[in-house]
Amino acid sequence: PLTTTADLVTRAAQERSAVAAFNIITLEHIEAVVEGAESAGAPVVLQVSENAVKFRRGHVLPLARAALAVAGQARVPVALHLDHVRDDALLKQAADAGFSSVMYDASHLPYDANLAATRAAVAWAHGQRLWIEAELGEIGGKRGAHAPGVRTDPGEARTFVADSGVDALAVAIGSTHAMTSRTAVLDHALLKRLALAVDVPLVLHGSSGVPDTELTAAVAGGIAKVNVGTALNIALTDAVRVHLDEHPDVVDARAYLGAGREAMARAVARIVGGIVRG
Ligand code: G3H
Ligand code: ZN
Repeated sequence: PLTTTADLVTRAAQERSAVAAFNIITLEHIEAVVEGAESAGAPVVLQVSENAVKFRRGHVLPLARAALAVAGQARVPVALHLDHVRDDALLKQAADAGFSSVMYDASHLPYDANLAATRAAVAWAHGQRLWIEAELGEIGGKRGAHAPGVRTDPGEARTFVADSGVDALAVAIGSTHAMTSRTAVLDHALLKRLALAVDVPLVLHGSSGVPDTELTAAVAGGIAKVNVGTALNIALTDAVRVHLDEHPDVVDARAYLGAGREAMARAVARIVGGIVRG
């Protein structure tokens, strides 16, 4: 059934566990994420990034409606989250489109500008009863440039959370977006300091590049939401490539999209299972 991100993240944080949040681009992503979470027996977040909305010709409703429909039929709790929003016009559509939460991303701005923009987004979001996540210390790799060296300062994080009123904070501790190898090394000592500094759940972005052992340690250290995107696209693309290589005469899109969907569901089950089992 459909639930809220607030419920899943709060519950995970209380249990010192984490909820996995997967970026969806196509209907196959949506179905695969829910099937994978069902086979792992754990709740999951379906998240739509601003970039995915751009890919969907600027429309958020087609993906949101499909995600709501699939979530409503799911055998595990599923929440809908709008991810990495910079565009105010998109932010304002979140509640009407059926999202229970948003991640507002002004992390590319200097501290004061990030705080001011985030504070305004929080005021609006809370007025709509939306749970809101923000980012401090820009996590690299969003526009191609990996910057695994960027770090969130615990003192800044404390004042940023207190002054903005955000419900969760995405922190830069060594992961970076769009990694195709699982070689990230996380700064666990910094994560510990951040978890002590702020009283809201922490979010790990760029988790595709994070090895299982590092992920387990990050969840034990205070990460309550684990964002995964690229790992699904790797699974999809590899499976489609293999299928097309093995069946050069195929024309039915269901054949290779089906193979891709199964591969994504297996990846989701593996990642979700790893997080909940620790
Ligand atoms: O917000 C989305 C995540 O940070 C996804 O990152 O594609 O590197 O797994 P990833
Ligand atoms: Zn991210």
